[in-house]
Amino acid sequence: MFERIRKSDPEFFPRLSRQQRPKYLWIGCADSRVPANEIVGLLPGELFVHRNVSNLVIHTDMNCLSVMQYAIAILQIKHIIVCGHYGCGGIKASIKRYELGLIDNWLYGVGALRQKHQAVIAAETDEAAQTDVLCEINVIEQVHNVCNTSIVQQAWRRGQNLEVHGLIYGIHDGRLHDLAVTVGSGPTR
Ligand code: CO
Repeated sequence: MFERIRKSDPEFFPRLSRQQRPKYLWIGCADSRVPANEIVGLLPGELFVHRNVSNLVIHTDMNCLSVMQYAIAILQIKHIIVCGHYGCGGIKASIKRYELGLIDNWLYGVGALRQKHQAVIAAETDEAAQTDVLCEINVIEQVHNVCNTSIVQQAWRRGQNLEVHGLIYGIHDGRLHDLAVTVGSGPTR
């Protein structure tokens, strides 16, 4: 793929090496089947990416917060995409009460989310469907968390154009769904 780019646009990589100007920050799951750039069809240089297990935005996670701060304040990205995926292993572990080790601590918040929404989850017939509904709830919760960070709040207060989107990807069909929970200000896209 990169060989093709080199041939059609010999200046592409030299130009990229000088600076990046992505418009999007992607916060997605670390799952190997959910590759950020490929899912949205964006080239190197177009997507700033942070990934962790179950695409969580936790207010004490310096890694995620630093990525957000740099992306918003320095790179001036216009959109934050929180992207979950159906059948997420971290979410499934919470539904099935698996004990997997250290990762259980990382996923602690997912358990709290499961309890908070247990009526909606219990209405689903099987564990796969319960997992998928919690996958969606989790994305919406993380969009909420992104919006409530001091970084995003300050950006909006400064009048910076910044939208936060919640998407979910189907590993089983390769489709990307917009959960229609976009929050933000300014001219779109
Ligand atoms: Co996952």
